[in-house]
Amino acid sequence: SSDSAPAQCPMREANIGGGGTRNRDWWANDLQTTILRQHQPVSNPLGKDFDYAAAFKSLDYEGVKKDLHKLMTDSQEWWPADFGHYGGLFVRMAWHSAGTYRVSDGRGGGGAGQQRFAPLNSWPDNVSLDKARRLLWPIKQKYGDKISWADLMLLTGNVALESMGVKTFGFAGGRPDTWEADESVYWGGETTWLGNDVRYSQGHRGIEGKGVVDSDEHKRDYKDIHTRDLEKPLAAAHMGLIYVNPEGPDGVPDPVAAGRDIRTTFGRMAMNDEETVALIAGGHAFGKTHGAGPSENIGKEPEDAPLEQQGLGWQNKLGRGNGPDTITSGLEVIWTATPNKWSNKYLEYLFKYEWELTKSPAGANQWVAKTNDEFIPDAYDPNKKHKPRMLTTDLALRFDPAFEKISRRYLEHPEELHDAFSRAWFKLLHRDMGPRSRWLGPEIPSEVLIWEDPIPPQTGPVIDDKDVAVLKEKILATGIQSQELITTAWASAASFRGSDKRGGANGARIRLEPQKKWEVNNPQQLAQVLGALEKVQEEFNSSASGGKKVSLADVIVLAGTAAVEKAAGVPVTFTPGRTDASQEQTDIQSFEHLEPVVDGFRNYGHGTSRVKTEQFLLDKANQLNLSIPEMVVLVGGLRVLNANWDGSSHGVFTTTPGKLTPDFFTNLLDMGIAWKATSSDQELYEGTDRKSGQKKWTATRHDLVLGAHAELRAVAEVYAEAGNEEKFKKDFAAAWTKVMDLDRFDVALDSTQA
Ligand code: HEM
Repeated sequence: SSDSAPAQCPMREANIGGGGTRNRDWWANDLQTTILRQHQPVSNPLGKDFDYAAAFKSLDYEGVKKDLHKLMTDSQEWWPADFGHYGGLFVRMAWHSAGTYRVSDGRGGGGAGQQRFAPLNSWPDNVSLDKARRLLWPIKQKYGDKISWADLMLLTGNVALESMGVKTFGFAGGRPDTWEADESVYWGGETTWLGNDVRYSQGHRGIEGKGVVDSDEHKRDYKDIHTRDLEKPLAAAHMGLIYVNPEGPDGVPDPVAAGRDIRTTFGRMAMNDEETVALIAGGHAFGKTHGAGPSENIGKEPEDAPLEQQGLGWQNKLGRGNGPDTITSGLEVIWTATPNKWSNKYLEYLFKYEWELTKSPAGANQWVAKTNDEFIPDAYDPNKKHKPRMLTTDLALRFDPAFEKISRRYLEHPEELHDAFSRAWFKLLHRDMGPRSRWLGPEIPSEVLIWEDPIPPQTGPVIDDKDVAVLKEKILATGIQSQELITTAWASAASFRGSDKRGGANGARIRLEPQKKWEVNNPQQLAQVLGALEKVQEEFNSSASGGKKVSLADVIVLAGTAAVEKAAGVPVTFTPGRTDASQEQTDIQSFEHLEPVVDGFRNYGHGTSRVKTEQFLLDKANQLNLSIPEMVVLVGGLRVLNANWDGSSHGVFTTTPGKLTPDFFTNLLDMGIAWKATSSDQELYEGTDRKSGQKKWTATRHDLVLGAHAELRAVAEVYAEAGNEEKFKKDFAAAWTKVMDLDRFDVALDSTQA
């Protein structure tokens, strides 16, 4: 059942087909290098040349919408629609698709259709959404590759809202599907579904002024739902939930404590209090919850269900197993008298009635209005009526003082709720899509929103090859050291994260708050370099003919690229056309989430008690969409270019720093050198000549992992081999260009760089 420990794989003993005890079973701490080879052409049935944007442009968008509208009330016998309308179910499907997003690492979200794959397809919170997706199959089949599952699931939620009377803010397509589970996302360390014993640490209030905390007390504080802290980057309160426990924190029916959890969870989804209230009050204007009986009635989740169920899970033994007998969350609530129609009734009832704690038929904590009026319709029996009911988390919108204020305002001004809900819903669905240049379709709103991290469009002619040559010369004549140009360009471009496609060199936000202050960017040095580059830019722009302008964003990247070219002696590709964003276009608080804690490429930062330094390196490489060879060549190349964030010589295994040579690799693999840790936390190392005992190099874990890990070492060997010097330079240049262009969704680049 869904709340038990993960089942032992029944194929453990298989002796073919990938069976047997695996590396991960033997060595739990092995670096998960697989996260750097996900979503490769080999697993994509559409082939590597498939262009989703082009396919989407040929989609009969209005046709899809018409078919979706029809589907809303086309109740199927195998999964009947509550109240004759699938709207609530589809809104929940879209919300759960997008709601896994968390702003601290940008992962999760609906941008890749991951709800189709484990673990999300089998999360206890996603019960019955297997049915929702299967209801959509005829439409997916009809329109084929022109609309991805990722887009279709979210568009369906949007159309569901429209069919129930919401004026939506718009919709953008443009989410290509992935074809396998994304293993790069940390969902928590718990090994039981709905567990939360790893993600919370002791709240601050719990230890204040207490001196020594004995272990029992620690335990109590650890569980204190009023003070506990949720581990980053997580947003959800339990393993296998999208958000918080609907019964209240850890099942305790305390609406105020639930408010605290909601604020944390929705905050980490990038929502403020107003957006949070609007989303919950707007979402629960629709549909119902399902808890017709105890969860013992439902079978295995999709990943563990018998073959004949064909990917569906949670088979229900109660009654007919669907319709009025449906078991999903185990709660049994119908919020309003018009569950298929947009209204303000949710907030009206929330404040009109007092609420009494009761239990669902499945035994879960929920609330019922203290009234004798029974006027809420039944989902199937026209002769049955119910009292209004609410979840503990719904009551939080009234009993949390800050939420209450907002809720009352929305109660008194329904049009404000409508607008706030539409906007927050649009943000929820599009937050992880990256810049507007990726958005597709006829319903893109014209209003530009701050959370898009807007970048002004390129106007006027783009600089040409001749201009680039002139600019390079001027940059190299500024007297700024090459390694400073390189670290600045890297700092600018490597702020990108592939998860939600934020950051990157475009916009030149490195010159703005908060990026210019980040320690990893070496603010003092950065200011000097930017000052010199701004001068180059101004000179060019004041003298260029034909109204040509170069952006600082382009100059920053070009500066690093010119310096790499000089150090390498091979040409390095540069694609101009970036523009500069303003401080007003930059939400400082939101950008703070992009600050790297660790950046192994610049030898910045190190591990924690929970994450090893080299795991951070891998994570960063994953966010930069790098393969293992690209990560290895970049680390080794950046070291000999002397590009450490603080100018230290850790990992600079060369006597000619600043020249692009394979020296990092030849020296790393040199058996004449012996390594030993020089710090008790095993973060710093010293390499000495075995014969003379003389100290030769210093290194961090970021450096030495390239020689210690078998797969990384195999690649390092290639770059240390005789005859591969040119290959090393070319591969470094290509990987460099890839990083510089990670956010160039505005131009069509070579598909290997996309
Ligand atoms: C249903 C909890 C926020 C939309 C449900 C269900 C639960 C729940 C337990 C019942 C699932 C079932 O048994 O079928 C919560 C909690 C929330 C939250 C704890 C946050 C504190 C939201 C948001 C939206 C939303 C933000 C959308 C914007 C819906 C809809 C349904 C639903 C439409 C009805 C599904 C149906 O009719 O089948 N919610 N929810 N919820 N939720 Fe939420």
